[in-house]
Amino acid sequence: MTKTVLTDDLVTQHERLGRTVTTIIADYVATLDSRKVTSTATPQDLLKVFDEPFPEQGIAAEEILARFTNEVLVHAMQVPSPRYFGQFNPTPLPIGVWADALASSLNQNAGAWRNGPTSAMIEARVMRWLCKLIGYGEESFGTLASGGTEANLIALKCARDRAHDDAVQGGMRSAPGNLTVYASEQVHFSIERSLDIIGLGRASLRKIPTGHDFHIQTDALRTQLDEDRKAALIPCCIIGIAGATSTGVIDPLAELAQIAAENNCWYHVDAAYGGTLAFSFRHRDRLNGIDLADSITFDPHKWMFVPFACGAVLVRDGGRVLRDAFDITPEYLNEDRGGADVEFDFFRYGQMGTRRFNSLKLWMALKFMGRQGYAAVMA
Ligand SMILES: Cc1ncc(COP(=O)(O)O)c(C=O)c1O
Repeated sequence: MTKTVLTDDLVTQHERLGRTVTTIIADYVATLDSRKVTSTATPQDLLKVFDEPFPEQGIAAEEILARFTNEVLVHAMQVPSPRYFGQFNPTPLPIGVWADALASSLNQNAGAWRNGPTSAMIEARVMRWLCKLIGYGEESFGTLASGGTEANLIALKCARDRAHDDAVQGGMRSAPGNLTVYASEQVHFSIERSLDIIGLGRASLRKIPTGHDFHIQTDALRTQLDEDRKAALIPCCIIGIAGATSTGVIDPLAELAQIAAENNCWYHVDAAYGGTLAFSFRHRDRLNGIDLADSITFDPHKWMFVPFACGAVLVRDGGRVLRDAFDITPEYLNEDRGGADVEFDFFRYGQMGTRRFNSLKLWMALKFMGRQGYAAVMA
């Protein structure tokens, strides 16, 4: 069969494909209960299925979608299954699934205001909502990231830059000494990886022991800080965990904030997993002290049922903190527009350039569920 892309009218294609895809998704959801959650296929099996030459001639979209149904979907991990209990990968909200399709149809580059005014404004709005949810004040700011891993990287870069004035220009060659970072041994691996990326090295992470209940031992943290100072190391950042990946444990966030303040350290809370507890009237006290953090990682693509990829980093002291760490003006975006629109250039607040319109699915999810809806789910 020959490809119809060049001849079909775009409207007709969307109507036709939209109907087919809607049927695929609806049939999939209707049959989830009877599907095996995990495929028994081995890598060898799937290598055979997908072992094919580079496509020379295009084929009809229907043929491609049939392969999706028969070969991709059947061997996928059935995350939306009611019998899927794997960590916190969520069954996506239907409105989030379709928001993703809408975002693709507009294909905004959510990096710069001038490339996507509504995507920028919606991102700013959802970030304001998350900041408020977490207890941050009006000055706070946030940016979306691909997930908690990237959000942690962004936050640690801000921490590094505060400890070392010349880090952005001079890198770690001009560092005043060995910057050191502290977190419980329950810390997510992305922290260690980020420390390598920002030039501090994995060895700069002090993994503080936890007790039998997996909470950080704050006495051990204080001792380690004292020892490191004596050894001329520079404590730079303390990380609290709100929802450890393997155990769900929440560190004593207020006490860690106090220790960070006493030691002139940046305080980051990794709430990728547990941040959503802020919706719960019953459990949100467990996050007491989170609003004292300089930065917070929060993953809407976990307990908020927003489809991947949707992470966020929030900063207490405003967008300037992120801009100082990441802003750069390329030649092709350098005209002075003399207005406040530059404030809405999200490429200035993190490491991404071209950015997907991911705020749309979060905005729609929040509007669909409302605070009360999420509170009811959290119970
Ligand atoms: C505590 C914590 N931090 C960070 C991450 C990384 O998030 P992501 O997988 O969205 O990059 C996870 C993911 O499981 C996590 O549990």
